[in-house]
Amino acid sequence: TSFTSVLKLSQMGAAASVPKRYVLPPSQRPNLGLCPNPAIVSPIIDLSSLHHPIHGLRIKEEVRLACKDSGFFQVINHGIPLSVMNDALDAATDFFELPHEEKMSLASANIREPVRYGTSLNHVEDRVLFWRDFIKHYSHPISTWIDQWPSNPKTYKEKMGNYTQAVHALHRKLMGVVFENLGLSPKYLHEGIDEGSQVMAVNCYPTCPEPDLVLGMPPHSDYGYMTIILQNHQGLEIMSHDKKWYQVPVRKGALVIQIGDQMEIISNGLCKSLVHRATVNSDTDRISIASLHSLALERKVGPAPLLVDDQHPLSYAEGSFSGFLDFISNNDIMEVRYIDALK
Ligand code: SIN
Ligand code: FE2
Repeated sequence: TSFTSVLKLSQMGAAASVPKRYVLPPSQRPNLGLCPNPAIVSPIIDLSSLHHPIHGLRIKEEVRLACKDSGFFQVINHGIPLSVMNDALDAATDFFELPHEEKMSLASANIREPVRYGTSLNHVEDRVLFWRDFIKHYSHPISTWIDQWPSNPKTYKEKMGNYTQAVHALHRKLMGVVFENLGLSPKYLHEGIDEGSQVMAVNCYPTCPEPDLVLGMPPHSDYGYMTIILQNHQGLEIMSHDKKWYQVPVRKGALVIQIGDQMEIISNGLCKSLVHRATVNSDTDRISIASLHSLALERKVGPAPLLVDDQHPLSYAEGSFSGFLDFISNNDIMEVRYIDALK
């Protein structure tokens, strides 16, 4: 399962052009060069008075509309200190700067491995490679997994661990709001959430000589119910109703919230699972840390019974995280989404 990381390719500097295996067919290339995609006019939701008896209602309504319209928003004043966020980005940067051989000791071809260093999406299967290196690790409950996380850089576990726990608490708070907005108990699925999985996908998108020809991540929606993204530079793009791509502006201190397939299913379509992709650039390496939240691997997920009636017929079959992993092993992610197979 040996591979060349994109970071190594990028640092060898020899590459004034992108190796052929990374070049996308013209129809799938991003539009960066001559006409860059416009920035999305994105909802930025200030959570500081979420618990205020009056202002709190307005904030919850903003969350409801964002979940219904696009499945996307950013949050500020979310309670996670900037220092904790910056430490996590530093830990990620320092990890990717380790010698290639050391990172390779964490590489695996098995997508169910709890700690996995890799490149592209799944470099064994991908027909075209994506301009991304990553380390993914299971993260909840943290005491079960942290011993298996990278032991180098020395501060990785502490810095990434602090952010991981803070972001888990934030997602739990946001899920309470999402459920309440649907008319479900804010504690709906609380035990499912506590037993559920959190995977940190720590991504490095190195400087690329020809960003117009490649993607860091192909268009997809996340299978879990919610994803929270921390990023240091622009690159994330989301697809809107008109099937056009929009850049997500980077705002210091903000976190990106995305609704995933499981939440669209649970809500019987009232929340939208967001299609997104990652572009790369020729100026700087980009780091993103995606905290992926899903219900437990084998747990079957279907629409909440309360949200199904004559006017709102059952719109999705049950699926599971495990079913999703099997599905992506057997299908080309560029062509089909798991959620479409459940409709
Ligand atoms: C992803 O998790 O889909 C990629 C997000 C990003 O790099 O911004
Ligand atoms: Fe994603």
